[in-house]
Amino acid sequence: YKRITTKTLVEMKKHGEKIAMLTAYDYTMAKIVDHAGIDIILVGDSASNVMAGHETTLPITLDQMIYHASSVVRAIERALVVVDLPFGTYQGNSRQALDSAIRIMKESGGHSVKLEGGAEISESVTRILSAGIPVMGHLGLTPQSIYKFGTYSVRARKEEEANKLKADAILLEELGCFAIVLEKVPAKLAREVAESITIPVIGIGAGDGVDGQVLVTHDMLGMTHEFSPRFLRRYLDLYTEMGDAFKNYILDVKSRDFPNKEEQY
Ligand code: KIV
Ligand code: NA
Repeated sequence: YKRITTKTLVEMKKHGEKIAMLTAYDYTMAKIVDHAGIDIILVGDSASNVMAGHETTLPITLDQMIYHASSVVRAIERALVVVDLPFGTYQGNSRQALDSAIRIMKESGGHSVKLEGGAEISESVTRILSAGIPVMGHLGLTPQSIYKFGTYSVRARKEEEANKLKADAILLEELGCFAIVLEKVPAKLAREVAESITIPVIGIGAGDGVDGQVLVTHDMLGMTHEFSPRFLRRYLDLYTEMGDAFKNYILDVKSRDFPNKEEQY
């Protein structure tokens, strides 16, 4: 594929090709991730944690998301860019949701938006879609509702919540969403959801029965080390490797090894 579109993703699901998605919040990281061949880049509101050091995703603003997204978009040649609508910019009413989505599309150049929730936000999803803006859903553990849940533990273990989740996934497909993120739910439930709809389900901590996977890039690179859920596979230990590089630089400066004769004018 030359350039990934929402249509490409539905085709991938149809042909059984798994979809790979990662986060990026800045130009340099997005460039590396895009050139590696990722299908979707998510400008996640996890930037609130990863970039800004907040405890939750709630504080990040629409302006800050637009700043991150516009930096990412400038780097992209192939991936589809999805931008999270941050907390408080779409729950008020569908007009507010549309205004927020339009600002993201106009001011960042992103290709689509992601909203957390099902039936509660159906009017907003419909209104955004009617403006021609592709929408990705997000069900299961929805971090913007952390103060309602109380914990980041696995969602929908009980039948009532599982049934609502299944119904929400079908609703989001019917409304016209092009894909759904499913976060931290039992693998069996996630597989059932993926099999019940034709749009791709991208899992994070949702097992191997879904149509694609997403991880937070800084987590899979091992740059963060406080956060260690079972679903996180670390491909590097950059926390240690970067720390060692910084220590070597400090030593070289202190010992006058850096700069050497070749490293100056
Ligand atoms: O903000 C984010 O990074 C996300 C992913 C974890 C799906 O929403
Ligand atoms: Na998010």
